[in-house]
Amino acid sequence: MAGLGADEAGALDAGALTIEAADLMVENVIGTFALPLGVGLNFLINGEDVVVPMAVEEPSVVAAASNMARIVRQAGGFTADCDPSEMVGQVQLVDVADPATTMAKIEAAMPELDAVAASVHPQLEQFGGGYRGMSVRAVTYDEPGEILERMVVVEFVLDCANAMGANMVNTVAERLAPELRHITGEKVGLRILTNLAHRRLARASCNVPAALFDGPELDGRVVVRGIASATRFAWADPWRAATHNKGIMNGIDPVVIATGNDWRAIEAGAHAWAARDGQYRSLSRWTVDEEDRLHGNIELPMQVGTVGGTLRSHPTAAASMKILGNPSARKLAGIIATVGLAQNLGALRALATEGIQRGHMRMHARHIAADVGAAGVEVERVVKVLCDSGEFTEARARTALAEIRG
Ligand code: MEV
Repeated sequence: MAGLGADEAGALDAGALTIEAADLMVENVIGTFALPLGVGLNFLINGEDVVVPMAVEEPSVVAAASNMARIVRQAGGFTADCDPSEMVGQVQLVDVADPATTMAKIEAAMPELDAVAASVHPQLEQFGGGYRGMSVRAVTYDEPGEILERMVVVEFVLDCANAMGANMVNTVAERLAPELRHITGEKVGLRILTNLAHRRLARASCNVPAALFDGPELDGRVVVRGIASATRFAWADPWRAATHNKGIMNGIDPVVIATGNDWRAIEAGAHAWAARDGQYRSLSRWTVDEEDRLHGNIELPMQVGTVGGTLRSHPTAAASMKILGNPSARKLAGIIATVGLAQNLGALRALATEGIQRGHMRMHARHIAADVGAAGVEVERVVKVLCDSGEFTEARARTALAEIRG
């Protein structure tokens, strides 16, 4: 369906990243590390069908996302979007005696600084990106018991188009540093992007009638209220929010990894964003309206690229991008946010109903069956015995296998 050629299909194999290529990517290479690559199915996003590659080791993640996408598509699917690819870089001036004066000097020199910053990556303009401006603010280190320190931080905005942008931003930051030293006479500290990419937010939402959550022993209206109640818990309580957001990242990270993007950047940005008002809270929100419809939405920084970086050197990442239809960075960001929302819905639906252990124990039973030597069709038969008996032990699996083999 994705139109992969023989080489691209071959790139889905764990050996696709050669040791030579790996050796060029990082240092002290002794091997490569494979993860299962699954596909999230049933996703209808902005009216388009999307098959989503997901690299992940945790059982049930791909199944839960696909299952929720199947429900949501019956209600018209998800809508998603992402802001322009604007990244922010920071240049820190340390130990500033008089921040107001230093900031005034920088403000006065803004036209020159703008010109320097804009000159670093002129090629971005032809891709719809480019330099977008600069601002300056004072930051005070006032940790109790420590010596107070005043800093001034210059922040600039660069639209990185289809690139993640870290290298480009860091180059601009380093280029600005000597200018700032010259203009202010202050000592320059760090020169680096911020992963709290608050100008590059991706959003996804869905709107699902409760009846789609009806089950043989379940009233959908109760289920959707349980899901909404779970969000209120995660908004109000950081301990619950951490787990709630972990469930969201269960969907997000696998797509970020499969597409060769920097999942540490996404994680850092997501959690910093979740704490933006001073308390760590849920990244998603679920509510139920008077017609028993469940409304879900998510918003978080999504600094992903679709050109350069790992994509160039990792054949599986390139094949994943092709399966996704080679989207722009903004479109990919919306897809990733959507998978996060679907994953969250799956977790909350399970938690609000039967709990998550039933599904997990079924997967666990497959490992036990394999461990005692079950093969082929025997595996599912042993799994059934373990699940029916509720006894997830090797001893039970061995007896079951012996009985199956007669
Ligand atoms: C497990 O990997 C993720 C969950 O804990 C998420 C959640 O509690 O919302 C099930």
